[in-house]
This record gives sequence, C-alpha cells and structure tokens, in this order.
Amino acid sequence: MCCRPSVYLRANAVPDEKIGRAEDDWVEGLQDRVIRDMEKVYSTRVMELWKNPQNAGSLDYPDGYGQVTGPCGDTMQIWLRVREDVVVEATFWTDGCGTSVVCASMATIMAKDRTLEQAARIDQQSVLDELGGLPEEDRHCALLAANTLREAIGCVRPELTKNRAERSAPPGTAT
Ligand code: FES
Repeated sequence: MCCRPSVYLRANAVPDEKIGRAEDDWVEGLQDRVIRDMEKVYSTRVMELWKNPQNAGSLDYPDGYGQVTGPCGDTMQIWLRVREDVVVEATFWTDGCGTSVVCASMATIMAKDRTLEQAARIDQQSVLDELGGLPEEDRHCALLAANTLREAIGCVRPELTKNRAERSAPPGTAT
C-alpha cells in the first residue's frame, strides 16, 4: 500500500517517454556493470567473441557435420565445407552457455583455411590458448567445441580428405 502514492505521483509527474528513457538508462548501466565485471575475468578475445560471435549458423549440404552433447547437457553442432583437403567454411550452433558460443566461434575460426589434418589437431588446450584462457569452470566448454569439431572432421567423406596430388597419384603411390 505505501508505495502506491509514489507510483501514482511518478506516473503522473513524469511523461511516459522519460520513464522509458530512465529504464533504458538503467538497463544500459546494468549492462555496462555486467560487462565491466566480465572483463575482470575474461580475456579481450573472449569478450570480443561474446559480443560478436563468429560463424554462427548451419551450412547446406555440408561435407562434414558433428553433433556432441557434453556432460553439462549442452549440445553443439559444427558444419564444415571442405575443398581439396582444406576447411573452407566452418559454422556452428549450440544451445549452450555464452562461453560455449565463444569456444565454438574460436574453434571454427581456427579450423578455417587449415587442412583436415591440421584442423583435427585443434584440441581443448589450443582453443583455450587462442582465447587467452578461461576460468576453470568454463574450460569444459572449450572441450565441447574441440570434440564437436573432431566429430565433424571424422565424418568427412574419404575422397575429400586427400589433396589434389594424392587424388591424381596412381594407386599405391600416394603417401
Ligand atoms: Fe555447457 Fe558451457 S556450460 S558448454
């Protein structure tokens, strides 16, 4: 009961657009505080990818596809386009946490323009290194990204895993 008069007064005294602006300012201030708190814990690279994720989405007719559900219950999917043994496109989707989006962004960035063999060597640690590290409780998100990438690479058709020289070499001569 005691707050009614002030709500009434405020609602009558302040035009709607000003209330809206005050709420917007409050939300903006809150967002700024959340971001400042996050910047104390996460690297600049993590923050960049958190604000601006890369390679989100699926690919039509992918050459490689992986889907993995981690122990946390979150699922990640990665799609690959491969040309002459090189990953030319890598995209992802996840229903996981913000850090899983960051890790999937990084794993797909790292996979692009690498041979399948090089991309298959991307592991949890290399994702963490590229991100400048993650707090202990978020490190498993990098493992989910690396495992999903490997799953996608693992299902690429064998004929796409050879480079042009290997494909044109007579049988038994390719290294
Ligand atoms: Fe599940 Fe981050 S908490 S992937």
